[in-house]
Amino acid sequence: MNRADLVVVGAGVAGLTAALRAARAGLKVIVLNKGSGAEAGDVERSTATFYAQGGIAVVLPDNPEDSVALHVADTMTAGAGLVAVGPTEAIVGAGWTAVSALLADGAVFDRDAGGRLLRTREGGHSVRRIIHAGGDATGAQVQRSLERATVEAIAASNDLECLNNATATAIMMGGGSVAGVAYLIEVGGSCRRGVINAPTVLLATGGAGHLYSATTNPAGATGDGIALALRAGAAVADLEFIQFHPTMLYVAGARGRRSLVSEALRGEGARLVAADGTAVMAGIHPMGDLAPRDVVARAVAAAIERTGADCVYLDISGMPDFEGRFPTVSAGIAAAGVEVTAGQIPVVPGAHYLCGGIVTDESGRTTVPGLLAAGEAARTGLHGANRLASNSLLEGLVMGARAADEAIGRRGVPSVADVAPIIPQAQRVLPRCMLQELMSHHVGLHRTAAGLRRVAAALREAPVVPLRTRTDQEDAALTLVAAGVCAAALARTESRGAHSRADHPEADDDQARSATFVLSPAGEP
Ligand code: SIN
Repeated sequence: MNRADLVVVGAGVAGLTAALRAARAGLKVIVLNKGSGAEAGDVERSTATFYAQGGIAVVLPDNPEDSVALHVADTMTAGAGLVAVGPTEAIVGAGWTAVSALLADGAVFDRDAGGRLLRTREGGHSVRRIIHAGGDATGAQVQRSLERATVEAIAASNDLECLNNATATAIMMGGGSVAGVAYLIEVGGSCRRGVINAPTVLLATGGAGHLYSATTNPAGATGDGIALALRAGAAVADLEFIQFHPTMLYVAGARGRRSLVSEALRGEGARLVAADGTAVMAGIHPMGDLAPRDVVARAVAAAIERTGADCVYLDISGMPDFEGRFPTVSAGIAAAGVEVTAGQIPVVPGAHYLCGGIVTDESGRTTVPGLLAAGEAARTGLHGANRLASNSLLEGLVMGARAADEAIGRRGVPSVADVAPIIPQAQRVLPRCMLQELMSHHVGLHRTAAGLRRVAAALREAPVVPLRTRTDQEDAALTLVAAGVCAAALARTESRGAHSRADHPEADDDQARSATFVLSPAGEP
């Protein structure tokens, strides 16, 4: 059995920020990375961080038109009444310090001739405050900088280790607190299982976009951390708030991950038009094309339904240097073989971000001692019912660092070393295609009690099967998380933010709070 002071599950912005900071403070840290590692040059990158385009929302010290109070206010407006003020002030207030640490690690962001960071705008932001890298390759820059620093730290010390192709299968518990993690490593058809004994485990596994048949998320976004946390007894909240990005590239007949067409295009002047040439956002919201994301996604869906077309279009005909400013979007369009005729990019809404997740406090602590969570897997209260664009990389940087500080504070906490690893033998699994069809049809942008009940019943009746492979493990996680999403969506008999009930179309002030739950003794959400 390996031993560590901290095990980090996940290698995106939150996971690597935490791992680096904790290792630099002298902790023995092991990272479990589902991907095959930077050095393998993997094409289908495993973290959502890598694919983030628009940027990082941050209040810059030299931006006179912005303030922490204004950024908090925009976050709260987008979050539709469920944003937690204290954590939001803390995260937004710590933004510049966190970004400075990233820059110190070598991240290169776009700057003007005078060296000042360039800023763009996205939906729900009242000012230009989103910094970016490589035009629209911000996430790739963040991921590569953190990976480079991690590789250097691994070479310089024995205290940081990264296990690639590794999927966490269970949180080990002992005496009421975390004792470690069980995992499997799958390479080329062979599977090896192992356990790591540690007093502190950080879940930074990202989201669950593959609950749906069309998503902007990488293949590994299967809700692993949320399922692990639930099975360890931790509380989760706000799972019903699944954010659909309004502009995912439309590719006829495609399934799985699809290219994002960044909201920053609209920040730079692109406009949404329906197939009949009408402006999608006309008369819908005072912020027009830059309204909060839930509003725009529903308007796009309504325009598609009204016209009977497969998609709407993002009109970039007025944009002078589209390829230069948005190389990642351009490359995604070319790779998918999509024709952009007369400056019109075909787009549809796509599953993009899980606003809820594992409940944490401002230090990343969950309700289980020794278990931490950060990034998209966590629910800090920053996103409420609808995340403000580009607040996620910010949250990953700030909360990754805070989780590291918490783990540093826990150094030396005894963990029960001789706990038998809980390697799950069998769990409920609905075949992925069926799960995605049901979720896309009944638990998407609009929901009804009848549709939600139908999906919940299918999930409850799914067969219990042995989990032998990474895919089995992921499908079991998706099945459990989908059940949690349905339960939360059924319980919320109102429409708010990213959760829209066709049978309860209005917001209800009495439900303006987060609903937290744990697994029942029978293992049901
Ligand atoms: C985008 O670039 O549109 C995505 C930004 C985000 O999801 O925060």
